[in-house]
Amino acid sequence: MDHFSYRNRILHCDDVPVPALAEKYGTPLYVYSKKTLTHHLKQIQTAFLAVNPLVCYSIKTNGNIHIAKLMVDGGAGCDVTSGGELFRALKAGCPGEKIVFAGVGKTDAELRMAFEAGVFLFNVESEGELFAIADVAKSMNRVAKVALRVNPDLPPKTHAKTDTSVKGVKFGLDIDTVLEFAAKVVKNPHVKVVGLHMHLGSPILSADPYRQGIEKGLILIDKLRAQGHQINVWNMGGGFGIHYRKQEALPASAFAEVIVPGIQKSGCQLVLEPGRFIVGNAGLLVSRVIYTKDSGGKHFVIQDAAMNDLVRPTLYDSFHRIWPVAPAADLAAPPSDYEIANPGTRKVDVVGPVCESGDFLAKDRYLPPVQSGDLLATFSAGAYGMSMSSNYNGRPRAAEILVDGGEHHLIRRRETFDDLIRPEVEC
Ligand code: LLP
Repeated sequence: MDHFSYRNRILHCDDVPVPALAEKYGTPLYVYSKKTLTHHLKQIQTAFLAVNPLVCYSIKTNGNIHIAKLMVDGGAGCDVTSGGELFRALKAGCPGEKIVFAGVGKTDAELRMAFEAGVFLFNVESEGELFAIADVAKSMNRVAKVALRVNPDLPPKTHAKTDTSVKGVKFGLDIDTVLEFAAKVVKNPHVKVVGLHMHLGSPILSADPYRQGIEKGLILIDKLRAQGHQINVWNMGGGFGIHYRKQEALPASAFAEVIVPGIQKSGCQLVLEPGRFIVGNAGLLVSRVIYTKDSGGKHFVIQDAAMNDLVRPTLYDSFHRIWPVAPAADLAAPPSDYEIANPGTRKVDVVGPVCESGDFLAKDRYLPPVQSGDLLATFSAGAYGMSMSSNYNGRPRAAEILVDGGEHHLIRRRETFDDLIRPEVEC
């Protein structure tokens, strides 16, 4: 359920017609559905209710503080990976004791900031980091609670650039040597190893990796306890997949089915760090066609959203559904399968204005005929869309709108040309 629907051939977010938003705020434009966001958070909270988890919204996915605040108001904490994300989480009103701090390269300055905020847990990924945490904790007269982030060495399960639990990636402590490392810190007065952290990759469309992770984790927790560590937190990270092509994602309950029994067996408190599952299908990117052209045997739809707005297709060859916001009468509803030549469609490349051949939102995609001025919707763009956007090619970032029922709110204004040069020292 995502609260985006075609009514009388016009795409609506809840009760708000998308063309009215494009008219008022311009394009490219990110549009989010508040009801979808809260519904997805609730789905996770409900699926895992038996173990009363701390659900920490992974703020990297979409850091807009209005969205983060919605999560915090819904009972979530935050998963942060930098001082900047910690700043956002605190601005959104997240209490420090509901914040987990991940990332392979935390600096001393970020660690100090995290201690000042009173974060709940540091996910530790290397020996160097653990000793840095201990030093900063000592200098501030604190004791740090840490979870060892382990790379459980599972089979590949997602795109190579987003798989975090295969051997040879930078993430986590090697499962083969983590115990030798853990043995060294049992008696460190400034660091308490209280947990295990595993983020397996993203997006994951099967519960199997979680089953495998749980099996390996249970064995590891026993061994860590035998070393004298009081392990009472198990952070399973994020990674739950969403619908990009069709209805391919699993419900939260399918993941809960394999995770909850393992958590109960371990006696640990469960922490989850979902991002994409909450915000991915809750947002779309609206763009306007500038030109169309034929070249080299291809038909190009050149529209005003580009790789600087949504880099996922360029970076991961990822698939996002695209359909006109107000399609012609005979193609009123988007098809269930965008990859086949549905009647009345033609094969096109949907590209942006950026000076790179890699600037595309879709390749060889079947769309109804479109012309200059038509609006397009790129679906499932709420996660890692705006948060990975840039100003490349001198392009101000898009505006963001949050829709709730028949109302909408501007939650980030469109950037101006002045914004582009604001941080540059005067010449
Ligand atoms: N926890 C940790 C430690 C993570 O590294 C991530 C994502 C998450 C939680 C949240 O994962 P999620 O629930 O959103 O799947 N930019 C890529 C995805 C990168 C994921 C990075 N880490 C994309 O657009 O597909």
